[in-house]
Amino acid sequence: MKVTPYNNNQTKKKQVEEMFDNIAPTYNFLNHTLSLGIDKGWRNKVVRILRESNPSKILDIAAGTGDLSFAMLKLNPEKIMGIDLSNKMLEVGKIKVRKKNLEDKIEFSQGDSEDLIFENNSFDAVTCAFGVRNFENLDLGLSEMHRVLKNDAKIVILEFSQPKNKFISWSYNIYFKKILPTIGNLISKDKRAYTYLPDSVGNFPYGDNFLKHLKKAGFKNTKGRTVTFGIASIYSGEK
Ligand SMILES: C[S@@+](CC[C@H](N)C(=O)[O-])C[C@H]1O[C@@H](n2cnc3c(N)ncnc32)[C@H](O)[C@@H]1O
Repeated sequence: MKVTPYNNNQTKKKQVEEMFDNIAPTYNFLNHTLSLGIDKGWRNKVVRILRESNPSKILDIAAGTGDLSFAMLKLNPEKIMGIDLSNKMLEVGKIKVRKKNLEDKIEFSQGDSEDLIFENNSFDAVTCAFGVRNFENLDLGLSEMHRVLKNDAKIVILEFSQPKNKFISWSYNIYFKKILPTIGNLISKDKRAYTYLPDSVGNFPYGDNFLKHLKKAGFKNTKGRTVTFGIASIYSGEK
């Protein structure tokens, strides 16, 4: 079953773009508050996984407001390109880039992960945090990420998953399905956005099932790691 934000006649891609445009002004505040700041640690773990390959040119897919792109500055790359469907999300990131004088390091532009404008074998690393779950066509998105990576270069994906422990799963469901939609929908003023979040996680492959998609796209040495009791997972692979 395809889970879409608004359940209307538009494509999932259009609905996702519209939803993130709607919630862009409150995204950062809600993201960090509702995750109790844990998401920062998860992005730092992505950075640590990339450290040993010392990437120079990085593509951050579904960059949104740029949280992962900014965290990856710690790797001291030559350039980070961030692409996203939602112009409004990127606009928040672009303001931060200008304020911090990072124009020569980070560049955000609108783009579709399922139809990347970049040449084959262009990047030393490709990342995606909380984006793949929103793709219209997951396998197409992953194969595009594979196409633009250089040989042996790394992909690292951070995405929500489902905890296995029964007590954690019970608490997580109460938080994710009741508390988070109530606060999120109230503050973002988008009635569907924070209901779509748990719905989309519940229907998305995780663990070995997600690794199967990475392998299908052509990635080797694939690996999955759970973080914070399996609330999220970090997947990696090489071209
Ligand atoms: C939950 S946000 C994550 C943003 C950021 N990576 C972060 O960690 O905060 C998901 C983002 O994925 C973007 N997105 C979804 N589908 C996309 C696609 N096909 N191509 C590019 N961006 C996409 C949305 O517009 C949204 O900004």
